[in-house]
Amino acid sequence: MVTDLGGFCAALYKRGIRFVQVPTTLLAQVDASVGGKTGIDFQNFKNQLGVFQTPAAVFIEPRFLNTLEPRQLKSGYAEVVKHWLIADAAAFEHHRRTGFFVDEWGPIIHESVLTKERIVAADPLESGLRKVLNFGHTVGHALESYLLSQPGREILHGEAVAVGMICESWISITRGILTEEELDKIETFLFSVFEKVQFVTLETDAIAELALQDKKNAGSTINCTLLEGIGNAIYDQPVSVDEIASSLRYYHRLLS
Ligand SMILES: NC(=O)c1ccc[n+]([C@@H]2O[C@H](COP(=O)([O-])OP(=O)(O)OC[C@H]3O[C@@H](n4cnc5c(N)ncnc54)[C@H](O)[C@@H]3O)[C@@H](O)[C@H]2O)c1
Ligand SMILES: [Zn+2]
Repeated sequence: MVTDLGGFCAALYKRGIRFVQVPTTLLAQVDASVGGKTGIDFQNFKNQLGVFQTPAAVFIEPRFLNTLEPRQLKSGYAEVVKHWLIADAAAFEHHRRTGFFVDEWGPIIHESVLTKERIVAADPLESGLRKVLNFGHTVGHALESYLLSQPGREILHGEAVAVGMICESWISITRGILTEEELDKIETFLFSVFEKVQFVTLETDAIAELALQDKKNAGSTINCTLLEGIGNAIYDQPVSVDEIASSLRYYHRLLS
């Protein structure tokens, strides 16, 4: 959160000053401090204010993670898993087998930053390819925003993205571009790391409606990133509010 807020303020102050990032959460180290995008939540919607502003440098020290709450560590891990799912099938397969246990974060952070940097370098202003980084975020942000407006039910960003990755993988299956076996691997791994997020089926339409707020949309079409097999993402896939609600009902069935 501090990398977003700090970057945003640095971009506005005197029309922009040089700044460096020293991210101290896993999420900020592998994602928020890389790529120069800042996003500030506004009126209960995610990332409604923001600018692109690249830091002069980013200093990453994995030892910061020694004091981070396990729940916060897992939240950042969701973005690491996202990078594997969209761009590195071999890493996903490896870590799926070894599980969440990590004794050395340095190499994982390094690989994850390289993946994001490679994608950002090809499309710095998100006119195309960079949108693959939004995998899990169409449904994830809708759920995160919905629960943000309900005191006591707020969840962390990565926890919402983990739900979003399951829902958007399920939508990928309905399009015939991901197999049931692949979804099963994704689900089993994510549920081994993250608590299930509770909501009731009556809420699914209201949550899905919030996806209309997403900045990647064109008019009333919701543009989503889907998986064409593990390790390969495709962006700008139009999905309907109904499909998003159905994917949330699919997730809900996994809660029991
Ligand atoms: N701009 C981007 O590209 C981008 C990418 C991904 C996520 N985000 C945004 O990042 C935000 C979440 O950021 P976050 O996960 O870093 O959360 P955060 O900044 O809220 O930090 C989480 C908690 O950890 C504490 N903390 C931080 N470092 C610590 C340390 N080393 N030891 C102990 N405690 C520590 C903080 O005080 C805070 O209570 C979300 O709003 C999300 O939308 C932005
Ligand atoms: Zn994210």
